[in-house]
Amino acid sequence: MRKPILVANWKMNGSLHSNQALLVRMLAKLRPFRKTVEVAICPPFPYLFQVRDLLGYTGISLGAQNASRAPSGAHTGEVSATMLQEMGCRYVLVGHSERRALYHESDNDVAARFRQVRSANMTPILCVGETLEEREQGQTMAVIERQLRAVIDDIGMAGLTGCIIAYEPVWAIGTGRTATPEQVAETHWAIRQFLENCEAGAGESLRIVYGGSVKAGNAADLFRSPEVDGGLIGEASLQADEFSDIGAALANRVAETESACDTLG
Ligand code: 13P
Repeated sequence: MRKPILVANWKMNGSLHSNQALLVRMLAKLRPFRKTVEVAICPPFPYLFQVRDLLGYTGISLGAQNASRAPSGAHTGEVSATMLQEMGCRYVLVGHSERRALYHESDNDVAARFRQVRSANMTPILCVGETLEEREQGQTMAVIERQLRAVIDDIGMAGLTGCIIAYEPVWAIGTGRTATPEQVAETHWAIRQFLENCEAGAGESLRIVYGGSVKAGNAADLFRSPEVDGGLIGEASLQADEFSDIGAALANRVAETESACDTLG
């Protein structure tokens, strides 16, 4: 069974003081679910060191929000994947829609970043998703397939092994508007079918998480389908209680699925 994961994307938020307070409370509140749900925190680059120290031996992983497409050299303002690996990162987000839209990262850029993360022995969390206009035009899967294909063409299916895919419809990010549980389940299923068609077994083995206005109040609904292997959480990851309640909703879903499997024998 795929182990569910909850990833906090703090985006460009936080301070030394607020990070400390947030994490101390969050770590205490997440303790009951740590065995069932994997958790990763992606702070802004300057706080990686602080967060790494606070996470200590809790078993919660450190992640970064992006990595350079270049391995090293004259790239002022960029941070390389090997630096992130050295800082203790296990996960790195690549292709977040804010990077694609606001910083013009193309599918090829995203593929190059993905490759760097892989070569530094970390796990990329590849973000994909359509805009509202694309959804309304029935282009959802065409867009997602194009985004996935760029990475597959660059690194091959073998390069995808063990990575995480985050389905984040652009229109649901930071808007308070979520995809319906049916839209989420349907899109995750379609992504699995696409991967399965690329290579037998790939669809079944990769974790696909959902992101976009996940809150404590809607998490149980959004995570209802076993197609959903967890969440990538923005705003709600800046509040310890909200984030841990989302973790609880995911842990409950896992427990329910397991007991259903046990009953079926
Ligand atoms: P929100 O949870 O704030 O909508 O952000 C989602 C996201 O972009 C996570 O990467």
